[in-house]
Amino acid sequence: MSVDLKAVKNALTWRYATKAFDPSRKISPEAWAVLEDALVLAPSSYGLQPWQFLVIENSEVRQKLKAVSWNQSQVTDASHFVVLTTLRDVSADYIKGFIRRNMEVRNLAHDSFAGYENMMIKNIVDGMEKTTIRTWNHRQVYIAMGFLLETAALLEIDTVAMEGLDPKAYDRLLGLEQSPYETVAAVALGYRSADDKNQFAQKVRFPKDQVIKVIR
Ligand SMILES: Cc1cc2nc3c(=O)[nH]c(=O)nc-3n(C[C@H](O)[C@H](O)[C@H](O)COP(=O)(O)O)c2cc1C
Repeated sequence: MSVDLKAVKNALTWRYATKAFDPSRKISPEAWAVLEDALVLAPSSYGLQPWQFLVIENSEVRQKLKAVSWNQSQVTDASHFVVLTTLRDVSADYIKGFIRRNMEVRNLAHDSFAGYENMMIKNIVDGMEKTTIRTWNHRQVYIAMGFLLETAALLEIDTVAMEGLDPKAYDRLLGLEQSPYETVAAVALGYRSADDKNQFAQKVRFPKDQVIKVIR
């Protein structure tokens, strides 16, 4: 195996929820491109990708978002700030658009995907309650969040996942209220401040044998 197991383990322990970012340090465009890949390449149920990721570069907007994020400094101090949003619903039109994308990418006719398309419309659009679809979509977004956090750690880029925010206020500030998408959570990324005491704190996890059970 060519993967360096120690390096991966080190990245997992090096990563922590960064409370204070160094505002003077920015993620390079090359590293940022890989972090975007982590979001784009994250898996989702049926491959539907019911999400959009908003990279907030505007500092005034970031100030406003901070005010509705318990005033957490990471919103304005991190190099990059991403709002993770998800579809409020999954419609037959969305599924058809996804199938068109499959046809395009794999250069195949609609026939190859007709069964898949019908099955998804039957199971999701006709078969699921709207509230179930909504929570299901939210769950997909957390997979992308995990990919982003882990990829950043491997690149020695600091992150904090953020649920400490008012999603409705985010939707208002970002003009999402009339859009098909709604805010789920956010991730701030950049480089830790030398003063952030959190980086020195022992990680608190339950013992491995309590969390992982082998069923033989
Ligand atoms: C979904 C999610 C939401 C979180 N929201 C916040 C947040 O709003 N602010 C914050 O400082 N930390 C937040 N955290 C960080 C957690 O508190 C932290 O990951 C946890 O205590 C474990 O510590 P570690 O990440 O340093 O190992 C969040 C983490 C997750 C996964």
